[in-house]
Amino acid sequence: MGVEIAVKRSLERVARSAEFTATRGTPRTADSGDLIPAGSFWGLVPGHNFGALGEIPRGYRWLVLSSDPVTENESRTRGRVNPYTSNPMSLPSPDLSAMILRIDSLREEALSALAGATSITTLESWRTRFLGLNGQLKALMGALKDASRQEKPVLGQRLNELKVHLEAALEQHRCTLSLSAAGPRLDVTEPGIPLAEGRRHVLSRTIDEIIAVFGRMGFTVADGPEVEDEWHNFTALNIPAGHPARDPGDNFYMGEQSGVRRLLRTQTSTVQIRAMESQKPPLKVVAVGRVYRPDTHDATHYSMFHQIEGLCVDRDLSLVDLKTALLQFAHAYFGGDAEVRMRPSFFPFTEPSAEVDMKMHIRGQLQWVEIGGCGMVDPNVLTAVGLDPEVWRGYAFGLGIERIAMRRYGITDIRWLYENDARFLRQF
Ligand code: DAH
Repeated sequence: MGVEIAVKRSLERVARSAEFTATRGTPRTADSGDLIPAGSFWGLVPGHNFGALGEIPRGYRWLVLSSDPVTENESRTRGRVNPYTSNPMSLPSPDLSAMILRIDSLREEALSALAGATSITTLESWRTRFLGLNGQLKALMGALKDASRQEKPVLGQRLNELKVHLEAALEQHRCTLSLSAAGPRLDVTEPGIPLAEGRRHVLSRTIDEIIAVFGRMGFTVADGPEVEDEWHNFTALNIPAGHPARDPGDNFYMGEQSGVRRLLRTQTSTVQIRAMESQKPPLKVVAVGRVYRPDTHDATHYSMFHQIEGLCVDRDLSLVDLKTALLQFAHAYFGGDAEVRMRPSFFPFTEPSAEVDMKMHIRGQLQWVEIGGCGMVDPNVLTAVGLDPEVWRGYAFGLGIERIAMRRYGITDIRWLYENDARFLRQF
C-alpha cells in the first residue's frame, strides 16, 4: 500500500511536469477495475511493474500516463527512451522505491509483532528489536547514508514518521497491558459488598466457655455415643430393669443390634460409666453432648438438648469436694458473687443426691436458677464398673447447657436456639 501511494505520487508529479505534457499530451485517469494498458508504466518502478497487464487495485484511481505501448523493443532501441524513466528528478529511483518498500514492510512487521506482545517482558524485547540501538529502525536509518541527495530528505522524513508512529504505538500498548495486568481499577467511592459475618452458635460458645473453666479446674474431657445401649444408659447407673425411667414413653428406643437394645441416650451420665470402664481412677472428667427425650416442644422443653456431666473418682472424696467444685465453677463462670445451693433430691446413681441451684445475675439482679443435679456416686455404680466402693469414692454432677445459656442471655424460648434464624443468633 505504501509503495503504491508513493508510486502514484511520483506519477502524478511526472504527469504534471512540462516535459510530460509536451511529449505525451494530457494524462488520463483509470479507475479501479480498469485494465492497465500494457506498457503504460513499464519500467517506471522496477520491481513494481504496474504496467504489466493487470487491474487497478480496488479503491484506487490511477493516472494512466501513456497508452502508447512502450515495447521492450523500443526501449532497447531507443536506449531507455521512456521519458518517465529518463527523468531521475521526478521519478523514484530503484533504490528509493526499494527503501520505501522496506520502511513500509518494517512498519507492518513491527505493528503486527506489537499486537502479539502480551506481557511487559515481550514488549521490552519488541522495543529492543524494532526501536533499540541495534534495532531494525536504526539499521534502516543507517542505510540512509547511501541514498542520493534528493532521496535523503524523503526517506529521512518517512523514517522519522515511522519512528514516531512506532513509539506512540508502543506507549499505547504498554498502557493497555499494564491496565489489564493490574486488573480492574479500584474505585474507592464504590459502596462495598457487606460480608455476612458468621459467629459461633450461642450454645457452642457456652459449651466452650464451660469446658474451659472445668479445664482450668483440672478436668479432662471425656466422650460417649449418642446412640447408647441399656447397660450404659440404665443398668450400670443403678436403674434396673422395670425401673420407670426405662419406660418406652420416656425414651427413644431404636431397636436391637446384635441382641442389644439401643436408644438415644437420655442423659450424659452414660459417659460416667464409659469413663470408669476405660480409665483407671483417680479420674476427673467432664463430658458435653446431646441427650434426647420424647418431650412435647414448648418454650421450656425440646426433644433434644445438651448436658455437661462431671465425674471425679478418688480415694477420699466427700460432699465438700463436690460443692467446692460447683462453687469454683460458679465463681469462674458467673462471677465472684455467684452462689451454689444444693437441695436434697433423688437420683438412682448418686447417694446422697441433690438438685443444684446457682445464684447468677439475670438482667442486673442476682437470682437462683436450678441448673442440674449432683451427688456422691452410688456404691452400686462403682461396683458395676468393677471399682471397690470401700476403696473408691466419687462425686458427679450433670448441668443443663440450655438452662445456663437461656438464663444467662435472657432467652425465654428454647425453640429459638434450634431454629437457626440468623436474626436471633446474631444477638449473641
Ligand atoms: N443425669 C441427670 C439428669 O439427666 C442429671 C444428674 C444428676 C447427673 C445427678 C449427675 C448427678 O451426674 O450426679 O437429670
